[in-house]
Amino acid sequence: MMQTDWEERYRTGDMPWEKGEPSPGLVDFLAAHPELPRDTVCVPGCGTGHDARVWAKAGFNVTGYDLAPSAVKLSRERTTAAGLTAHFQQGDFLADKPAQVFDWVFEHTLFCAIDPGERDRYVEAVLRWLKPGGQYLAVHYMISDTDGPPFGTTREELWKRFSPHFELVQEWVPRSYPNRTGLELMLWWRRKA
Ligand SMILES: C[S@@+](CC[C@H](N)C(=O)[O-])C[C@H]1O[C@@H](n2cnc3c(N)ncnc32)[C@H](O)[C@@H]1O
Repeated sequence: MMQTDWEERYRTGDMPWEKGEPSPGLVDFLAAHPELPRDTVCVPGCGTGHDARVWAKAGFNVTGYDLAPSAVKLSRERTTAAGLTAHFQQGDFLADKPAQVFDWVFEHTLFCAIDPGERDRYVEAVLRWLKPGGQYLAVHYMISDTDGPPFGTTREELWKRFSPHFELVQEWVPRSYPNRTGLELMLWWRRKA
């Protein structure tokens, strides 16, 4: 399996995932939940920071994390330009030991971006970055592609991987970008204590 050179994808502008706006499902989730305490959030594989900024705008203390230095640079520049405060760090979410653990981890197109052979490490990483009792909110891309990225998944796979460690709070099909309508599934989990 060819490893994706993410930094090269940013340098050459080969970024079909970049929609210029946050995940519509996340926007709707935050609008529907003004009662949530404004806690700490980690957004791994944050890209240019659209999702991190919408968490920040809603008042959360957010840290975006990305392997690609160019993604981190763009995230910082765009966040400053938007007059918002969010932290961005360059690193490998799958390998790194977090400097702090978070109340929330928000997933959007990192799970489908990594090699499927890395999915055990991904689940281990979510558990490493999240506080006990913390929440994992995911927008999953429910395609069947095996020649990614993006790589597909199924509800069965997600349930098998996450239900041993998390209680499901809610599951729904969100509003999506036009080319992903009906192809996303949001899962809101609370980590078992
Ligand atoms: C498909 S892009 C999605 C970006 C963003 N979530 C969005 O939807 O616009 C995947 C992102 O994950 C980053 N990435 C891939 N592997 C990573 C890893 N192990 N740790 C942190 N970031 C990673 C890539 O650099 C890229 O920015």
